[in-house]
Order: sequence, then structure tokens, then C-alpha cells
Amino acid sequence: MSNKITAAITAVGAYVPEDKLTNFDLEKMVDTNDEWIRTRSGIEERRILKGEGKGTSDLAAPAVLNLCEKRGIDPSEIDCMIVATVTADMLFPATANIVCHKVGAVNAFGFDISAACSGFLYALTLGTTMIESGRYKKVVVVGADKMSAIVDYTDRTTCILFGDAGAAVLLEPSENEYGIKDSILRSDGSGGEYLKMKAGGSCYPATAETVANKEHYIYQEGKTVFKFAVKGMADVSAELMERNNLTGEDIAWLVPHQANLRIIDATANRMGLSPDKVMINIQRYGNTTAATIPLCLWEWENQLKKGDKLVLAAFGGGFTWGATLVEWAYDGK
Ligand code: UT7
Repeated sequence: MSNKITAAITAVGAYVPEDKLTNFDLEKMVDTNDEWIRTRSGIEERRILKGEGKGTSDLAAPAVLNLCEKRGIDPSEIDCMIVATVTADMLFPATANIVCHKVGAVNAFGFDISAACSGFLYALTLGTTMIESGRYKKVVVVGADKMSAIVDYTDRTTCILFGDAGAAVLLEPSENEYGIKDSILRSDGSGGEYLKMKAGGSCYPATAETVANKEHYIYQEGKTVFKFAVKGMADVSAELMERNNLTGEDIAWLVPHQANLRIIDATANRMGLSPDKVMINIQRYGNTTAATIPLCLWEWENQLKKGDKLVLAAFGGGFTWGATLVEWAYDGK
């Protein structure tokens, strides 16, 4: 028997704010309608974090506390906190540090990962290698985004898409043969121009002009991103299945990034999966960027069984994309 350590997800936690923004609310804000939004994206409503001074750490911290409670651990047992986000509380310090402080993870070090909608898979893969190294025993991987902070609610092409949420998983050395089995991550910086927030970084620091030009909001060329997303997410998922000798029949669940129902359907088709094997909650939360995949795991946790094969797949800004093969390590309640 090999002594190789396998990393396993041993708990899932999440937090969604109470306030809802429905398609009908948006109809009153921009020139759009419920029918267009549902048929083009699959979204019906999103959650919005309200309150002055509240940020992504206020989505991440309750998700981490939820996870610790479910696993029956104290936050002081966490070795490392990785937060995937593109809506950090501030440019620095890292949101992960703030989350550690808010939950009382006094023995953890933490840092942020910026890979947009693929951020959770990037962070999960990194956390997996940290557990596999034998050096760390409890790594928390958070996907959290307060997208409402960077959405222009006068731009009908983007404001209908995004919502706020935080969700997290705990990685530990596996106690059985199951866990994170494989991962393929990709990036292509030439896609950066199609989905970005131009100002507020070192190239274009905030000025009255950048504010007036609305350059502190999400800019997206939706059609271009859509085309790359359909191909990227399906290609990488197919490649992951092929190199692990898996067919659609072997997969219990596809856990896709929730950006557009049509992108999800295309990926499931390519993988030969029936719709009942696909986790979809985009209708209730919209695109919560780094939070979509762990939020799905959280909602479906009770239905998951030990040994279930899951393919987690994402595509997003950067461009970044990837797919991860998980053999679920515990039975849901
Ligand atoms: O998670 C990160 C990665 N992001 C994505 O994966 C998003 C990828 N893109 C998409 O999901 C889709 O491109 C959108 C949902 C953003 C847009 O759907 P689409 O089918 O690509 O629509 P479109 O941009 O081609 O627009 C079609 C029409 C246009 O009108 P004309 O030019 O045909 O007259 C738009 O002006 O729909 C119009 N339109 C709208 N109409 C009503 C655009 N936004 C809206 C709106 N309500 N909110």
C-alpha cells in the first residue's frame, strides 16, 4: 500500500444574504424583462448583501463558521485559509486575513486567490496539494464574492447576471480511499480584455475621471465570453474524464460554475450526462463568481454518497478555466 496522502472534502458551509433581487425588481431598474433574463441566462433572482461597510468577508466568515459547526471543530484548529474572490474587502490586506480574524482562526495563515469564476477550483487544487504534502491537516477553501459591489445597476447586459454569496469546504487527509483525485487548470491572459474591471488597480488608480467613466464596474463582452466558456468548460471536462477513463455513466454529478444555463447544458451534453445529474441553482442565486461551486455542494450535500464521482467545472474572467474530479468521501445525512 502506498503512503500517499489523499485530500478529502470533509465538510461544506455556506452563507447567502437574505435580501433578494428578482427579475421583476430589475424590470423597474433597466430596460429588461423577466422572460428575456430567464431564457437567455436561466436566472430568476439573486441575493444581495446590504449594509454600509459590509464586504466579502461578511459572506465568507459565516460560511466558515457554518462549516466548523457542522464538522465539530474550533476555528483555532484551521491551519490555512484560502479565499478565492475578485471582490476583496480592500485591495489589501487579503480578505483571508480578515476572515481569519472574524472567525477566530488564530492559528491559521491566509491569503487570497484571484481567478474570477475559476477561483474556487484554483484554490481547491492548491489546498489539495498542501494536504497531500503532509504539512497541513486542515485547510479551508472559501469562494466568496460580493458582486453587487462592482455591478453597474444601469447596465442591463451585466446587472441581471450577478449575485452575492459565500461558501467554503474543509480539506483534510482522507480517512478512506476517496477524495480529490485529479484537476486540470488553464488560463489565457489574452482573454483578459473581454471580462474585467479596468480601474482601481495600479494601471488606472481611482480618479474622478475613472469614476465618471464607470471603470470601477464589471465590463463584459458577453457574446465573446459565452463562446469561449462553452468550449472551454466542455473541453476541459471531457479531457478530465478521458484521462481518468470515465464515461458519463460513471459520473454521479456535474457541479458546474453557474454563469449561464446554456453553458451548463452544453457542458453536460458533451459529457454525456442526463440533466438529473447536474447541480443547477442559478435560478435562485445568479452568478456568484467564486461561490457558485461550493454553494452547489452545500445545497446538494445531503444527497451525496461516499464514493460518488463528481466533476467540478468552471470558466471565467482571465480567461481562467478548469475541471476537478472528486470522489465524495462521506455520506450526506
Ligand atoms: O462567469 C463569468 C463568465 N461569464 C459568462 O460566462 C457570461 C457569458 N455570456 C452570457 O451568458 C450571455 O452572453 C449573456 C446572458 C450575457 C447575454 O446573452 P446573449 O444571448 O449573448 O445576448 P446578446 O448579448 O447577444 O444580446 C442579444 C440582444 C441584444 O439586442 P440586439 O442587438 O439583438 O437588438 C441586446 O441588446 O439582447 C439585448 N439585451 C437585452 N435585452 C433585454 C442585452 N441585455 C438585455 C437585457 N434585457 N438584460
